Amino acid sequence: MIHSAIVPVAGLGTRLLPATKSQPKEMLPVAKKPIVQYVVEELAAAGIERILFITGRGKTSIENHFDHDPELDRSLRQNDKNGLLSELEYERLAVHYFYTRQRWQRGLGDAVLCGENFAGEEPFLVALGDSIIGLNGHSTISRRIAEVYESERAACVIAVEEVPHELTASYGVVAPESEGDVFRIRELVEKPAPDRAPSNLAIAGRYVFSPVIFDMIRRVEPDRRGEIQLTDAIRLLAASGQPVVGVRLAPGERRYDIGNFRSYFETFLEFALADPDYGAELRQRLRRLCR
Ligand code: G1P
Repeated sequence: MIHSAIVPVAGLGTRLLPATKSQPKEMLPVAKKPIVQYVVEELAAAGIERILFITGRGKTSIENHFDHDPELDRSLRQNDKNGLLSELEYERLAVHYFYTRQRWQRGLGDAVLCGENFAGEEPFLVALGDSIIGLNGHSTISRRIAEVYESERAACVIAVEEVPHELTASYGVVAPESEGDVFRIRELVEKPAPDRAPSNLAIAGRYVFSPVIFDMIRRVEPDRRGEIQLTDAIRLLAASGQPVVGVRLAPGERRYDIGNFRSYFETFLEFALADPDYGAELRQRLRRLCR
C-alpha cells in the first residue's frame, strides 16, 4: 500500500499570464474548485494519507486553501449557511499536508528530489498539481498505478495517454514493449519532435516511484534550459534494468492539463456544463450565444 504522495506545484505558470501573475496556476478555479483540490481529492480517494507539496514563491494560497479557517466557519454557522459549509468538507480529508519550497527553477526532476527526505525508504506517488484526470477529477488512476506497482514489483509505474502524433513535443513520450493496458516501458523521451517520438503514448502526470529514483535524478544532466527532467531519470532507471511499467488511462478518462488558456477554457467549460446546479442553464445560454 502506498501512503505518501508528492505534488509539484512550483512552476511559474507563465503561459497563463496575466491570470497567474500573483496566484498559482494550480489555484485557478475549474467550475467550483481550484485545480489542485481535484488532484488532492483523487489522491485521498486512492488511500493517500500524506501529501508533500513542492511549492515556490507566491504559492501560499495553496496552504491556506487546505487549512481550516475558523473565522469563515464561524461566520457561515452564525448565518445559517449550511449549504456553503458543506462546500468546505474537503478540509476534513484524512490527509496530512507538508510543504517545502523548490528554491531554484531547475525542472520537475529537481522538484521531486526536494521530496527525498519526506519519502524516506517508502514508495510514493507523484501527481502533477496542474493536471486533473477524469471529468470532475473522478478517476481511479492513482489507485491503479499504486496497485500495478505492487503486483508487477516495478521500480516505477507511469500513467500514459494517447495523444495526437503531431503533439508529442509537448509531452514525455514512452516506447512500450507490448500492446495492452499495462506494459513494460523500454525507452522514454522528453518532448520529442513527432519524427523522433517512439510512439504517441504520453506521460500523463501520475507516477509511482521506488526511492531508487532519487539516485537516478542526481545522475541526470541538466537540459539546454538548465532543467533536470524527471523523464530522463526514469530513462536511466529503465536502462539500469529496473522494471518501468506503463498503465493506460481508461477510455473516457481524459486528462485535463491546465498549462495554457486553450486547455484551461475548454476544461472550465466542460466542468461548468457538468455542474448539477448551473450546467443545464449554462448549456441553454451557450446555445443562444452560439447561434
Ligand atoms: C511534464 C513532464 C512530461 C509530461 C507532462 C504532463 O511536462 O515533463 O513528461 O508529459 O508534464 O503534463 P510539463 O507539462 O511540465 O512541461
